[in-house]
Amino acid sequence: MSTDVRSLIDEGAERTGRALESLLPSAATVPASIHAAMRHSVFAGGKRLRPVLAMQAAVAISGLVPQGIERLGAAIEMLHTYSLIHDDLPALDNDDLRRGRPTCHKAFGEAIAILAGDALQTRAFEVLAGLDCPPAATVQIIGLIANAVGTVEGMIGGQVLDIESEHLKPTPALVDAIHRAKTGALIRVSVVAGGVFAGASADDAARLDLFGRKAGLAFQIADDVLDVTADSATLGKTAGKDLATEKATWPAVYGVEKSLRDAAGLIDEAFAALAPFGSRADGLKAVARYLVERKH
Ligand code: IPE
Ligand code: IPE
Ligand code: MG
Ligand code: MG
Ligand code: MG
Repeated sequence: MSTDVRSLIDEGAERTGRALESLLPSAATVPASIHAAMRHSVFAGGKRLRPVLAMQAAVAISGLVPQGIERLGAAIEMLHTYSLIHDDLPALDNDDLRRGRPTCHKAFGEAIAILAGDALQTRAFEVLAGLDCPPAATVQIIGLIANAVGTVEGMIGGQVLDIESEHLKPTPALVDAIHRAKTGALIRVSVVAGGVFAGASADDAARLDLFGRKAGLAFQIADDVLDVTADSATLGKTAGKDLATEKATWPAVYGVEKSLRDAAGLIDEAFAALAPFGSRADGLKAVARYLVERKH
């Protein structure tokens, strides 16, 4: 990875971390257990890729990282972290390790973990309601994000398909639907919301949407491949889980080699949607390339 992409991701992640620090109640705020649990999962070295995508999508539209976009990124990261806390619960993937730490329910118990996920979701929408952009853009962003997290081709719907497909023989159509929804939707909306925050026209938002769809699918294919090829220490989560639980994954349908080719091919296709933005989209492209070339 070039130093340019590394510093772009590091700066975006740091900016997001500072925003999260100021937006989440302190661990001493009553009731302390839930705030400690929320912070345990949020401040654990997540890559913050969705906020960075939002920032770079904004750059593609306006040429700079707009003031206040870190609050949008922080809200998206709260929603992502909520999805991870619930994904790890015994009733879902039953994982003990996340972001290199015990999962939220291992550290705080199931009841507090469920509530910490719920609380990150509600706080995210509270933060979105106060975004520093024109009211029409704020309302649009809230609608788009709520839709992407929801049940119809959104994160929750994808999680339902994922759970209900365990132990079934996965088909190409099934794994495509799961991945676009459970992971792709939040990645896609991170890109689109970043663009809308920066004042994107409807045509430009549609370009970002197409890019985000392809990059989002590629991201989950890469996650599936890493579950097969990387170790738990590198991933900060339990490797080899998907095979053990017979999950419907891209490698389960196509094998690792073709999965890698598909992920790279999707990123090339995604780039085509950004052509009208010229060099302003270079940062967004670099982050998208990282989504599939990352090692954890
Ligand atoms: C992991 O997402 C969970 C999926 C949606 C596949 P990330 O790989 O972005 O996880 P963090 O945020 O860096 O921990
Ligand atoms: C998780 O997919 C997707 C969401 C959290 C919505 P995975 O179950 O593959 O994610 P990991 O591998 O546990 O991070
Ligand atoms: Mg899962
Ligand atoms: Mg999981
Ligand atoms: Mg996974």
